[in-house]
Amino acid sequence: MTTSTTERYYLTTPIYYVNARPHLGHAYSTIVCDAIARRQRALGIDTWFLTGTDEHGQKIERSAAQAGRTPLEFATAISGEFRALWDRLGLTYDDFIRTTEDRHKRGVQHLFTAIRDRGYIYKGSYTGQYCVSDELYVDGPPGTLCPDCGRATETVSEENYFFKLSAFERRLLEFYEANPNFMGPESTRREVISFVRGGLRDLSVSRTSFSWGIPVPGDEKHVIYVWLDALANYITALGYGTDDEKFKKFWPADMHLVGKEITRFHCIYWPAFLMAAGIPLPRSVQANGWLLFDQGKMSKSRGNIVRAETVHAVLGSDALRYFLLREIPFGQDGNFSFDALVQRYNGDLANGYGNLVSRVVNMVHKFFAGVVPEPGPETPAETALRQSAAAAIAAFGPDFDALNFSEALKSVWSLVAEVDGYLTANAPWKRPAERSEADQTALQARVLATAAEAIRIITALVYPVLPDAAAKVWRQLGQGEIADAAKNAFLTQIAWGGLQPGTRFAESAPLFPRAEKDAVERMVKIEEENNQSVIEAAGGPTSPQPQSAPPQAAEFKKKADKKPMEEIHPAPEPVIAPAAAETPAPQTAPAPATPAEPAPAAADQHITIDDFAKVELRVAQVLVAERIPKADKLLRLEVDLGYEKRQILAGIAQYYEPEKLIGRKIVIVANLAPRKMRGLESNGMLLAASLPPDGAPVLAGFLEDVPLGARLK
Ligand code: MSP
Repeated sequence: MTTSTTERYYLTTPIYYVNARPHLGHAYSTIVCDAIARRQRALGIDTWFLTGTDEHGQKIERSAAQAGRTPLEFATAISGEFRALWDRLGLTYDDFIRTTEDRHKRGVQHLFTAIRDRGYIYKGSYTGQYCVSDELYVDGPPGTLCPDCGRATETVSEENYFFKLSAFERRLLEFYEANPNFMGPESTRREVISFVRGGLRDLSVSRTSFSWGIPVPGDEKHVIYVWLDALANYITALGYGTDDEKFKKFWPADMHLVGKEITRFHCIYWPAFLMAAGIPLPRSVQANGWLLFDQGKMSKSRGNIVRAETVHAVLGSDALRYFLLREIPFGQDGNFSFDALVQRYNGDLANGYGNLVSRVVNMVHKFFAGVVPEPGPETPAETALRQSAAAAIAAFGPDFDALNFSEALKSVWSLVAEVDGYLTANAPWKRPAERSEADQTALQARVLATAAEAIRIITALVYPVLPDAAAKVWRQLGQGEIADAAKNAFLTQIAWGGLQPGTRFAESAPLFPRAEKDAVERMVKIEEENNQSVIEAAGGPTSPQPQSAPPQAAEFKKKADKKPMEEIHPAPEPVIAPAAAETPAPQTAPAPATPAEPAPAAADQHITIDDFAKVELRVAQVLVAERIPKADKLLRLEVDLGYEKRQILAGIAQYYEPEKLIGRKIVIVANLAPRKMRGLESNGMLLAASLPPDGAPVLAGFLEDVPLGARLK
């Protein structure tokens, strides 16, 4: 049955800055939105889920310059990484906006004009402090630190356009009062209100000191303030200012989900801009807390990031979704650790839901040839289970819709535990001697049909959180494709009694193979290798505190058991062969395709030209080469790139006499994140062919003379 829909739901993630590659902190908000979007759709609500990337501003301009690329090239590469990651994680966004797209630029200019035409933008001059990292104007004298990130602010002095934010103080407070659910959680609401009560000053909404942005219509030497530009994505993506069919249908947004540090922009500036332009306000802004790793906010600048790819590679996307939604009460900060992740995975998914499904599906195959039996009359045990299932259905929706994902999942997992207990109590696999065959068959039919029905309900409820597993279970239960059921609004009809006797089950297939203890080690290792070998797309020098491994790695290593590895999901190949660990560490990459080396057999060995462009290969000359005491494999080199000198440690000491290297022109990977070996920092990697049988390096060089710093493309 197809339910016709009149209701619609529009939700958005923040758009992500393209100066940093995606990490779990970014994946968190996008995954939360995906779970919400999936549930809304499965309730028959016409849903639009928007995400995208924030690509303008001084911060991006500078990062691009450091990486030696144009801002657009740079933004395109990183935006592509975000999008590719969301696709890999199976996130069902309906639109992905880039602020460098024409539809966005036109929309922003339209908005700016609308606000100016209504008298809320005027020209004035500004001298004050600006935090480039947060793209935030800060009150205070020169030398003031940014209140949000603690970095030094810069003094800017410009003739600017100003937005009359002060004119909205009262109206905003009235609006908050009249719409108590506009922002959440409560702490956000309190902070925002007290900020506005403290008084609002007019806001500079253009800059002239750089050009990477959207020009002010009619005054092109100004670019529009990056937050006005960025916030507008929520309407420009719907066609505001260009083709507003979708805008009419989906605006105002039902929810902007944002990190807690950007609530001021979303709860004060954004509503004020919209009021000024005469556009209705979004229905709610909800703030998520931060994902912490090793006690700090996971962020590129702290160097403590974990990538979603790593968890995906070892445990799968559902495991990550489940962990984030179950472990962290929404709105609060939450610690991420590989240990906690694996514990949740094994406890709740492998041993809990996964094991329950496989027991029941296997028994239906074993005792009833895979066909759901007629359950027969209910006993008190089935009545209790049916009532518990009804209670879980009743609790799940309101909890989930109030963003209490953790509570919602908890109630489903107590149902999982109850079904487990019910199976154990009735032990349909055992036949006591005094029980007749007919009674045994009746008990098996009753217990298995009941347990299978409970699993069907559990699966429907968890579908928004565990879409991959739910799809598999739905097939195993003979229910077909869950995606089709979702299109038919199956969550509106979820009630006990839907599993028809006579339904044929599909073969049982593993859902969540148990993670052995070394799963933690594997994830730590992937992160280490990534930190060592994947080229920072944003350019090495922009990572202020690079680390060779996530801070918890050593601790994980200590804890992890040295059991043989069990392949759960194959780990992805690194783009460039990683330098091995500390001691042997030849800091040389094998030449990509020496005929002497057999091609690796991984599934997808292709990279795009954009991937290749991330690797900054340059010509350098060796100025100093010397051995390192007590390290018989390493040489310390100082090389000249023409524009700067670097220290590089290379594991070539057994093959090259240091003196012979001096003056030689070599090729280095110039934008590799620095790493420490033997207490010395290595800033780059030499390129060499790696010869069998033992990987002897032969340094790459040129027959013609080449200038220092020349880039290899
Ligand atoms: N570009 C702005 C948002 C503009 S929206 C109109 C921005 N970008 S960001 O890339 O810095 O952050 C995007 C989102 O990722 C924010 O909501 C931020 O809170 C979130 N996260 C980044 N690191 C995070 C964690 N460690 N934990 C949770 N979320 C975090 O701000």
